[in-house]
Amino acid sequence: MSNLPSGNRDSFSSKFGVIAAAAGSAVGLGNIWKFPYIAGVYGGAAFLFVYLAFILAIGLPVMLSELIIGRSSRKNAFGAFKVLAPGTPWRYIGILGVGAAFLILSFYGVVAGWSIEYIVLSLKNGFSAKSPDEIGLLFTTLIESPVKPVIFQLIFMVLSAGIVIVGIQKGIEKYTKILMPLLVIILVFLCVKSVSLEGAKAGLNFLFKPDFSKLTADGILSALGHAFFTLSLGMGTLITYGSYIQKDNNLVNTVINVTVADTVIALMAGIAIFPAVFAFGIEPSQGPGLIFVTLPNVFHQMPGGYVFSILFFVLLSVAALTSSISILEVVVAYFKEEFNMGRKASTILATVLISILGVLCSLSMGVLSPYTFMGLNIFDLMDWISANLFLPVGGMFIALFVGWYLGRKKVKEEVAQGGTLSGALLSIFMFLVKFIAPIAIAIVMLNNFGLLKF
Ligand code: PFF
Repeated sequence: MSNLPSGNRDSFSSKFGVIAAAAGSAVGLGNIWKFPYIAGVYGGAAFLFVYLAFILAIGLPVMLSELIIGRSSRKNAFGAFKVLAPGTPWRYIGILGVGAAFLILSFYGVVAGWSIEYIVLSLKNGFSAKSPDEIGLLFTTLIESPVKPVIFQLIFMVLSAGIVIVGIQKGIEKYTKILMPLLVIILVFLCVKSVSLEGAKAGLNFLFKPDFSKLTADGILSALGHAFFTLSLGMGTLITYGSYIQKDNNLVNTVINVTVADTVIALMAGIAIFPAVFAFGIEPSQGPGLIFVTLPNVFHQMPGGYVFSILFFVLLSVAALTSSISILEVVVAYFKEEFNMGRKASTILATVLISILGVLCSLSMGVLSPYTFMGLNIFDLMDWISANLFLPVGGMFIALFVGWYLGRKKVKEEVAQGGTLSGALLSIFMFLVKFIAPIAIAIVMLNNFGLLKF
């Protein structure tokens, strides 16, 4: 973030920049890689509907809460609570967030590395003349290798660090404007192709016809965790970004735009993938490889598939990048402001530490796969702990903080700068953050850990 209009605090220069940055953070591997893969694991439509309900009842209010905390404190995820609630333990929510950022970026970088490797494979026309089984094998061989995925992961981490050092704003405002719409266009083409494949209907039924008897406690917790993950909530990303938002920005509009964009893109990814999964006889619950195994088969059959596959993986990598920088920024802003480090030094330190954990995540797909905890390898463990534990717990406290500590008057004041929230909507918002969000999160978590049974 390069320009410094108010004192020494960075800020976004335009309203579009804010939405672009927040949407850039929200839209990423979570929408295109993770959503279809976990929807596949947890049975499709029933998972989708629970996830949508969580987005509405919990995601929206928590997102507005984070922006309010960030903009009114003008601080990082940890410092914000120190400013708004001095001398109280609320600041530890910020620490939880910095921890979550560490864990998330460690495995996120691995998947982004796969995406970059798939750009290279696409350029080499590496999927042509291959059967669905061979394409599946290609993916497994690739992720189990101890060297190549690590190299691509580190390239991705260096790119992220480079952007965070140079200034997020310059990069994002310029490129998101062109690249995100392009990603949407490619997704439209993929959806059309996928839906017109023979046997596509089974995929659409899987995604949209719910069978709630398939829903498990694990599935519900994953839907909740994913609502946080996909909207970049629960760990202070949007507190940090909120702190760079100027007072004339309409926070409510930003929240609505970002949530709608994020949800539409996830749905499009689902529509692009599940019909093809069924058409090609791929196992929907196969896990993290789902898009990497499914989409090359679709590209195969499309006119211009060669170009489409290159473009798709380039855009997926860019989408991953605009998210990873927002994750890295949480840690960097914390180091910078709490330990008085320079932007460059904090970025390098954060990147090195995260990459060390990240390499272990990558290796856990191959040589380190025998090392598991609760049946999960290091990669899955980092994903599970961050998305299903840290983010919902962080989100619960963020909602409680805004609902009970900041209170209605302060919320109204902050939202009124650059926007409005009518009396009725404000009351709904306060009810959601005071009661619904925290209670729902607590119930889902207790239910999952067997402490409460339904
Ligand atoms: N929302 C991003 C995605 O869907 O890919 C991932 C993410 C970014 C999670 C920032 C959490 C976060 F704070």
